[in-house]
Amino acid sequence: MKRPKSARWARGVREVGDRLVAWFEREALDLPWRRTRDPYRIWVAEVLLQQTRVEQARPYYGRFLAAFPTIEELAQARREEVLKVWEGAGYYARAHRLHEAAQFLIHRRQGKLPSEVEEMEQLPGFGPYTSRAVAAIAFGVPVVALDANALRVLARLFLIDPSGGKTAPRAEALGRQALGGHPPRAFNEALMELGQRYCTARSPRCGACPLARRCAARQELPDPGAFPPRRPRPVRPRVEAAVGLLEREGRWLVGQRPPGGLLGGLWEFPGGKLKPGESAEAAIIREFREEAGLRTSVVEHLGDVEHDYSHFHATLHVFRLAGTKGTGHPLGVERTLRWVTARELPALPLPTATCKMLVWVSPRTSRGSGSRRGRSSASGRAAPARPRARAHARTLRP
Ligand code: ADE
Repeated sequence: MKRPKSARWARGVREVGDRLVAWFEREALDLPWRRTRDPYRIWVAEVLLQQTRVEQARPYYGRFLAAFPTIEELAQARREEVLKVWEGAGYYARAHRLHEAAQFLIHRRQGKLPSEVEEMEQLPGFGPYTSRAVAAIAFGVPVVALDANALRVLARLFLIDPSGGKTAPRAEALGRQALGGHPPRAFNEALMELGQRYCTARSPRCGACPLARRCAARQELPDPGAFPPRRPRPVRPRVEAAVGLLEREGRWLVGQRPPGGLLGGLWEFPGGKLKPGESAEAAIIREFREEAGLRTSVVEHLGDVEHDYSHFHATLHVFRLAGTKGTGHPLGVERTLRWVTARELPALPLPTATCKMLVWVSPRTSRGSGSRRGRSSASGRAAPARPRARAHARTLRP
């Protein structure tokens, strides 16, 4: 949809900005990251909020800043401590990048975040969104940060035709015009908040929206909620895996996931996906042989844990194992293995699915008395561990 760039159109774009900021100044939610001007705290919030909803992010924000109140303290922390505090928030690569960037800033920039977008974009974890959000909110740089909410709001307000491609640059250019001379912090947060509270993806509340009268989609389309057209949600594949709980002399075997991938750097009970046609029992015996070089046998099926990951759903068949014959060296898989007590376990950074399995290794039930047969719900999370507690490493003994 080509629009004439008339003076009237330009005035209309500016009015959108005026109304948006006026609404925000009247009705903005009181969120913890809005009570600070500290660029570090704003940066932490923006990283958390990238893939986490506001209400879910709130407790993690408080917990993270209580553990690491300054860039210095974050940079000095061990990676495992950072992951422990991030535990449950998901998308753990965000925690790795935050930590790396904090260390870089301490070593190279006297612990100060740069204020310019281009410089920020050189830092680990700072993509176009984070750089613009931090620049606008913490440093007042007049840029527009496009997260999914802001992009959708601008696309609807200005009816940006997605078939022409380049929606993001066009939204950014129009957003920049609408921003005008308003405070970049208020303008950007207003766009995000409007997208969260009124202009939602599936069922926008146009009747209550403070910008409805200025919104081209509302004025011109029969169903503004259907704009911009959405890609159908991909069906989440289902994955089946087997997990083994093996105890020796009061210690349980755990392995650390490689740093780069899914749940990178977190500790879990060894296991892996079932091969086509393979039983869960056969899979766990094979996994222990391959991953830990250990010959084991199944003592009992403790239960199944169901867990949703970002891109798939997993059913994890959990077994108690016996026997530790073998070399004790991981074969071909780059993994660190440790033997830890049930008390030490919760101090390690653990995936949520592993937390669900802690019911089977609590000190009281470590001899199997607390096991659950059949399809256990196993949905209870272990009580959160104190973020900075340490677990003692034990090397694998054959
Ligand atoms: N989503 C991303 N950044 C946000 C912010 N600063 N406030 C509210 N929601 C957000």
